[in-house]
Amino acid sequence: MSLSIIILAAGQGKRMNSSKPKVLNLLAGKPLLQHVYETASKIEHRAIYVVYGCGGEEVRATFKDESKITWIKQDEQLGTGHAVKQALPKLSKTDDILVLYGDVPLINQTSLMKLITAAAKSRFSLLTAYFDEPYGYGRIIRDNNNNIISIIEEKDATDIQKEITEVNAGFMVIKADLLNEWVNSLENKNKQTEYYLTDIVGIAVKNNVKVSSVLAESTIEVQGINTRAQLSEAERYYQVVQAYELMDKGVGISDPSRFDLRGELQVGRDIEIDVNVVMEGKIRLGNNVSVAPNCVIKNSQIGNNVKIFANSVVENSIIGNDCHIGPFARIRPDSILDDHVHIGNFVEVKKSSLGKRTKANHLSYIGDSEVGSGTNIGAGVITCNYDGANKHKTIIGDNVFVGSDSQLIAPIKIHDGSTIAAGATITKDVDSDSLAISRVDQKSIPSWNRPKKK
Ligand code: UD1
Ligand code: CA
Repeated sequence: MSLSIIILAAGQGKRMNSSKPKVLNLLAGKPLLQHVYETASKIEHRAIYVVYGCGGEEVRATFKDESKITWIKQDEQLGTGHAVKQALPKLSKTDDILVLYGDVPLINQTSLMKLITAAAKSRFSLLTAYFDEPYGYGRIIRDNNNNIISIIEEKDATDIQKEITEVNAGFMVIKADLLNEWVNSLENKNKQTEYYLTDIVGIAVKNNVKVSSVLAESTIEVQGINTRAQLSEAERYYQVVQAYELMDKGVGISDPSRFDLRGELQVGRDIEIDVNVVMEGKIRLGNNVSVAPNCVIKNSQIGNNVKIFANSVVENSIIGNDCHIGPFARIRPDSILDDHVHIGNFVEVKKSSLGKRTKANHLSYIGDSEVGSGTNIGAGVITCNYDGANKHKTIIGDNVFVGSDSQLIAPIKIHDGSTIAAGATITKDVDSDSLAISRVDQKSIPSWNRPKKK
């Protein structure tokens, strides 16, 4: 059979109370729609159609690299049936059509495969689930012989129907010719004056087509995201699943409910991650790495035997082996730290490389710099890289000692083995093995009268 997939993603998401198109809300750092699209992509298909509308340009821009999507515009959001209708002219009459909702991100491939397999024996199959709290979902109405006869939306349901716990998960497989005929005959006579896709169930029954159903593998995977509360519930679920997968690989995670991975994490052995750590993008941690509480790591590569102390931020950088970072350190993008580098508290490093065993342990700013190996950057050293208009480089050699509270006015070169006396403002290059000092001689005024309060 040839299968085409329609993903509905045009809705406003009124219940989110936000101007952002609902399907672009992030779950574990990825838009809801991307989760659904990635799952759909794993299923053999002829085409994937995404119906978009609200915040359309933003949605398309987010997926600009996905060349396999055929975009279908729904100008006005008149309901899920109306959304499907926009895709009908594109469908091949002999296809089976899998309809997915872009706001049900945790849907699992196994459940979809069960649905597709069932569809081989039936012309119309639905995925359903039993919810203890079915509020908000379309309810599955069955006759005395347990045959599905219709779906009633929450807003149109009677009190008795509202007690039904079997819900429409929002996934169906149906022959394209039937979908075409029935969607075109939908009406909007309901509480929301919308064209409900779910009404084709009643139409099928009137046309003597049996509607079969398949039960989803779990209820969480068919949880629709309509509100921010539901989004946060799905996020927590997803995060805990990821944390357990990492723990299975041997990663120590102090508290899976206080760990967030919004991307992909590659791990070595003997990693310990303390509470409230957030990791984003693509990250690689080597062996024997510890990450203390409240650290944020984005798109970075961390070597072996690295300790990242509490409250540190590392972004788009490469950290070598045996480094110590923090507490309270900030490694900004395009920084490269060689092995055994120590970056201490309140030190900011930006777009800089630091050679082996170089240390900057306290209160410094190192920006647009190349620092050699074995160099010591004293407390409060600042590379003055910005003249108000342009950025300039600071080059510091090997085994340099930069005294505390010095300012290095870039562009500048501090050659190997040199010493900068504390409190210096360095405006000229410093020769190797020399001492640079720029200090007013200390004088002493005896018997100084301190000002007194009037
Ligand atoms: C829908 C189902 C309900 C089901 C639930 C499962 C209908 C009428 N109801 O309800 O039976 O239990 O999902 O989560 O289908 N969309 C469009 N264009 C529109 C309207 C919606 O593309 O004009 C898209 C939305 O972006 C969303 C999906 O369709 O991705 C579902 O729409 P939503 O309004 O969230 O439907 P529910 O009320 O959740
Ligand atoms: Ca929904």
